[in-house]
Amino acid sequence: MDIALRRMRADDIPQVIEIEKEAFSPGWVGTPFRRELNSRYTRFLVAYHPDGIERDEPGADEYQPRSGAADESLWGRMLTGVRSAFGISRHDEVDDLAGYVGIWLQGDQAHITEIAVREELRGRGIGELLIIGTLRVAYEQALAEVTLEARVSNFVAQRLYDKYGFNEVGIRKNYYADNREDAVIMTTDPIHTAAYREKFATLQENFLARYGELRIQI
Ligand SMILES: CC(C)(COP(=O)(O)OP(=O)(O)OC[C@H]1O[C@@H](n2cnc3c(N)ncnc32)[C@H](O)[C@@H]1OP(=O)(O)O)[C@@H](O)C(=O)NCCC(=O)NCCS
Repeated sequence: MDIALRRMRADDIPQVIEIEKEAFSPGWVGTPFRRELNSRYTRFLVAYHPDGIERDEPGADEYQPRSGAADESLWGRMLTGVRSAFGISRHDEVDDLAGYVGIWLQGDQAHITEIAVREELRGRGIGELLIIGTLRVAYEQALAEVTLEARVSNFVAQRLYDKYGFNEVGIRKNYYADNREDAVIMTTDPIHTAAYREKFATLQENFLARYGELRIQI
């Protein structure tokens, strides 16, 4: 997998907004990312392509993938789109984002507020990588559990959470303003138990075996 995870920076915001809009429209309400990035009660992680836009090669006008991969690749086409959408020159220091997760550090809980992967890159383990990153943040912050709300109709997301040991613990009626859909509250078992640590270790080993690498800087 040629995707890694790191903390979100201010210069990621335009791409994160693009991913957010794509994932949550209609009914999209923009998150005030700039304010939230400065809060000590939040943590945002982005999944990015480390071999992104080639820089500092005088004389070359066209984008070239740093890895030398064919530019007809999905990434090559996506980067060209991202560059033109944001007027990014190949000399700018901008990573190419595939997804992000927003986490509130609330009491003894890590609360996932948003998680999304670019539509064309879904189904390749990036959502899973974002959940692994979230759990690592929760361990680093010595939090007790990870929780979130999901639309009752969002089976794909619920399957992902179920895989990582989130259990349905309740329903919030009419939670979503756009269509008054209910939310299911999903929370992990306490993450510091031996049983959960073992489960998480196994999940990460499985991820490594399947995708080849696990690069996370939280
Ligand atoms: C939910 C989301 C983040 C998942 O990201 P993703 O990168 O596609 O997920 P992954 O490829 O890492 O898949 C991880 C697991 O999710 C589940 N999953 C993913 N795609 C699925 C699909 N099409 N059908 C059923 N389950 C699916 C599976 O459990 C999968 O594990 P498996 O591969 O071992 O079966 C992504 O679909 C997304 O951005 N959706 C739009 C925004 C959204 O709904 N966010 C959640 C709000 S609560």
